[in-house]
Amino acid sequence: MDKLIPVVVIKNLAETEKIMNALKNDGINCAEITFRTDCAAEAIALAVEKFPDMNIGAGTVINAGQCEKALKAGAKFIVSPGLSEDVAKICKANGIDYFPGCVTPTEIMRALDLGITTVKFFPANVYGGLKALKALSAPFPQVRFIPTGGVNRENLEEFLAFERIAAVGGSFFVEDALRKIGEVK
Ligand code: 3PG
Repeated sequence: MDKLIPVVVIKNLAETEKIMNALKNDGINCAEITFRTDCAAEAIALAVEKFPDMNIGAGTVINAGQCEKALKAGAKFIVSPGLSEDVAKICKANGIDYFPGCVTPTEIMRALDLGITTVKFFPANVYGGLKALKALSAPFPQVRFIPTGGVNRENLEEFLAFERIAAVGGSFFVEDALRKIGEVK
């Protein structure tokens, strides 16, 4: 899977292509478009249509309805801030990767029961960062993590160096990419 997952918030549909182009220009081939705005599903559909070679998924998916919309729009993976069994079931039925947010051993065990071995660790900075991930990794050798929330240019390499990290997520990827094309955010 892609190691860098930009957390994208699209406020106006018209911004979609600019943001996706900025990410591509920055060498990033992936985007997690979040259901934090009304145009999320439309933005995913547009991004999937215009950038067919990119790995475009949906984030902040917190219920079955949003998950159905995201899949209909063509999302290739689904991310949640927490764990939804409804969302997990829909993703499994559709053969789509689901990365639920899990920060406690109990949450990780629920994910494992659902057949999920890669989880989002969010908000990573609040729940103990790399130190917590290392501690959680000991009893769960089969689990890979996607730390998100408070990941930045300064700590990115440290996270990526830990072998249990599947990928890192963050909004800063989008800000950096836009800055590089002269779109200050
Ligand atoms: C997320 O939903 O994953 C976070 O809002 C991203 O956190 P960040 O803005 O600290 O990268």
